[in-house]
Amino acid sequence: MIVHLNGEFLPIEEAKISPLDRGFIFGDGVYEVIPVYSKKPFRMMEHLQRMQRSMDKIGLQNPHSIERWEALCNEMIERSPDPDQGLYIQVTRGVAPRDHAFPKDAKPTVFMMSNPMRKAPVEWHTEGAAAITARDDRWYNNDIKSTALLGNVLARQKSAEVGAVETILIRDGMLTEASSSNVLIVKDGTIFSPPKSNLLLPGTTFDVTIELAQKHGMPHQLRPITEAELRGADEIWVTSATKEVLAITTLDGKPVGTGKPGAVWKQMHAHYQVFKREVTGC
Ligand code: PDD
Repeated sequence: MIVHLNGEFLPIEEAKISPLDRGFIFGDGVYEVIPVYSKKPFRMMEHLQRMQRSMDKIGLQNPHSIERWEALCNEMIERSPDPDQGLYIQVTRGVAPRDHAFPKDAKPTVFMMSNPMRKAPVEWHTEGAAAITARDDRWYNNDIKSTALLGNVLARQKSAEVGAVETILIRDGMLTEASSSNVLIVKDGTIFSPPKSNLLLPGTTFDVTIELAQKHGMPHQLRPITEAELRGADEIWVTSATKEVLAITTLDGKPVGTGKPGAVWKQMHAHYQVFKREVTGC
């Protein structure tokens, strides 16, 4: 496997990072995951812009121009054998003696790899998937796509332990997002989702979903969602670059709506597949 580290493409075994890297010591870095279909990146610019936003929020100087990032991403995709990939980019504040305060002259560490995209199991389309809920006990800067993911890791582990695909998070009685995806619900034919805020990641897949709802005249509204509304929803969806739009059909072991992927999800899923083909040309 070929990866990218600080300007070089090299076999993963040869990619070495100092234990003093602040990504390792403090989780002091940002990342992105860009889906790639038939070797064509999907929404690359939006991901690169979100990465810039994450860096701005943590005071990390972007080491590359957008044009350079595009070239690096394209080269990483070319050098990775699979047509469908999950392109991972990580930028940390670099290597410095351990001190919480920012180092004066550290150089950001840039790491990239592109793994084969995990295929969605067929049952996800026919049956949907299970999720559980948990208290959102993460920090208050979840709009930053930070590599410091312990809160998300602990949340995700709860669902992994019961064989569910996601942990949907509730903060002070309100829906925020899930451990590694955004959440939308459907009630009486309308799609609802919490508006963007510091409590959740501004998802690129979420944006596509809302754009498609607009384009196809599907009623939708962004507003705070209570836990009761989540539990009483006809449909629940989770969205992410790797899951696309996935129907959640059981929540905490209870069926959501009919317990099968709903009619609105079916419409959205179909629109999403067509849109993907349009923009990637495959
Ligand atoms: N996760 N919320 C969280 C906490 C996430 O980690 C993600 C993505 C999303 C959805 O964002 P997007 O649609 O841009 O992928 C929402 C990625 C896939 C990951 O960490 O692997």
